[in-house]
Amino acid sequence: MILLDGIKTSQELRTEIATEVNNIVQNGGKRPHLAAVLVGNNGASVTYVNAKIKACEEVGFTSTLIKLSDTISESELLLEVEKLNSDPEIDGFIVQLPLPLQIDEKKIILSIRPEKDVDGFHPENVGRMALGMPCFIPATPAGIIELLDRYNIETGGKHCVVLGRSHIVGQPISLLMARNTYPGNSTVTLCHSHTRHLSEIVRTADILIAAVGRPNFVTADMVKEGVVVIDVGITRVVDKTKKSGYRIVGDVDFDSVSQKAAFITPVPGGVGPMTIVSLLKNTLKAARGKKA
Ligand code: GUN
Repeated sequence: MILLDGIKTSQELRTEIATEVNNIVQNGGKRPHLAAVLVGNNGASVTYVNAKIKACEEVGFTSTLIKLSDTISESELLLEVEKLNSDPEIDGFIVQLPLPLQIDEKKIILSIRPEKDVDGFHPENVGRMALGMPCFIPATPAGIIELLDRYNIETGGKHCVVLGRSHIVGQPISLLMARNTYPGNSTVTLCHSHTRHLSEIVRTADILIAAVGRPNFVTADMVKEGVVVIDVGITRVVDKTKKSGYRIVGDVDFDSVSQKAAFITPVPGGVGPMTIVSLLKNTLKAARGKKA
């Protein structure tokens, strides 16, 4: 079994990005600038946004963190988005999800200028991705694709089973794995909560991408020998032995499934770091796009 090491791979990518930033700056260019909007103080969201801001510093980007109260109204948040849309200093920005109930997430996503939508959530970017046109690909699926690529994992003609149909992971990764390029050209089955005979389908997977948010959902009896496993799950479960009071658990029962897998991502240290570095790549692309 080979561990798909997201920490090592993302570090290599960060070094590449940092080198590019240095080149830009040495040629008199401006450092790429990412802004992140955090509404409220949901524990997981705070952790993710802080990690994104820290990653910006590491590669030499400028970053801005905008913290807003969880009582903010939709129109006030739309005003914040508009400020970022029209600020020439900001190359790209994200609004961390989920948002409080009084705010319509779709409305917020629609209000982000597609050229600055480094999350790739705006319908223009989603549509462009579906059509194979230049776009921002959402960070988690982009990170998975990059990981498969860096480990030279064969995907053409393979049966890729995706668990979960979220707009952030399951849906886009299904499209990307089926597209006519490497990594891609897989035969994709997208499974979700209404799928019948799920275990039987998963057992036929050459590549399994689990993004259901249910700890240890995939067990060894559900996979075949030699499967490539990508675990996107990052559920916090209470663990009093940890300083933080919790630990992160994936969708895959790593201990048993890793006995049968050819390649597998650990949790943490697999897809998570790749997601963050993909956001950096999108931001670099947004910064370059403005110059062109
Ligand atoms: N919430 C969970 N994942 C993401 C992400 O990739 N981007 C944003 N904006 N919110 C998220």
